[in-house]
Amino acid sequence: MDKYIREAYGVKFLLSQHKDLRRLKRNSDQPAIHGNKFWGSSYLLMEYLQQHPLPARSKVMELGCGWGLAGIYCAKHFQASVTGIDADDAVFPYLTLHAQHNQVEIDTKKQYFEKITQAQLAQYDVLIGADICFWDEMADTLFKLINRAVKAGVKKIIISDPERAPFFTLAEHCTEKFYAELESCSVSQPRRASGCLLIIENN
Ligand SMILES: C[S@@+](CC[C@H](N)C(=O)[O-])C[C@H]1O[C@@H](n2cnc3c(N)ncnc32)[C@H](O)[C@@H]1O
Repeated sequence: MDKYIREAYGVKFLLSQHKDLRRLKRNSDQPAIHGNKFWGSSYLLMEYLQQHPLPARSKVMELGCGWGLAGIYCAKHFQASVTGIDADDAVFPYLTLHAQHNQVEIDTKKQYFEKITQAQLAQYDVLIGADICFWDEMADTLFKLINRAVKAGVKKIIISDPERAPFFTLAEHCTEKFYAELESCSVSQPRRASGCLLIIENN
């Protein structure tokens, strides 16, 4: 394997020295809303999914996908059909590059959380998101989005977070309204990361 490629949870990812990544950094617009790398919460999400696999061929929407590692994991391990949603389309070349290295296809769509409709959500079985609740106003935005998803019949919602304050505001509302559960999680590979998972089962 190329010396600038690593693997975690069976998913390949490129180190910053990799020529494809350097070329993208030189030639493309750069992500502007923190979608500039893989965040540790992606690993927490993959750790959870490894222990709680999704049904094969689930339809998965990854919210605030950034470079999309968790969605790639779902496509690779569960043959899931995955759509990565992000407000910042500068992240998509990075996602597509990693999808190619992992030999999976991921659909992408530029969209703000606020604009994702109930009809759109009804096409998915599972919503995932890693480190997407980092500004105060996001707690309310994501609570409303989760409300639409539950009404639309999405069966499972999993959001991982490094324990930022807005995430706990979101978690409190989701525990009250949707009987959400919070689970602590930490991983040491491919690097140390710790935080919480918010899990909603909509049966
Ligand atoms: C901290 S990054 C996490 C990226 C990725 N999930 C990960 O774990 O590596 C947050 C992502 O959410 C996206 N984002 C921020 N606000 C958003 C919004 N209102 N609607 C959609 N995406 C948004 C950003 O562009 C960025 O890619």
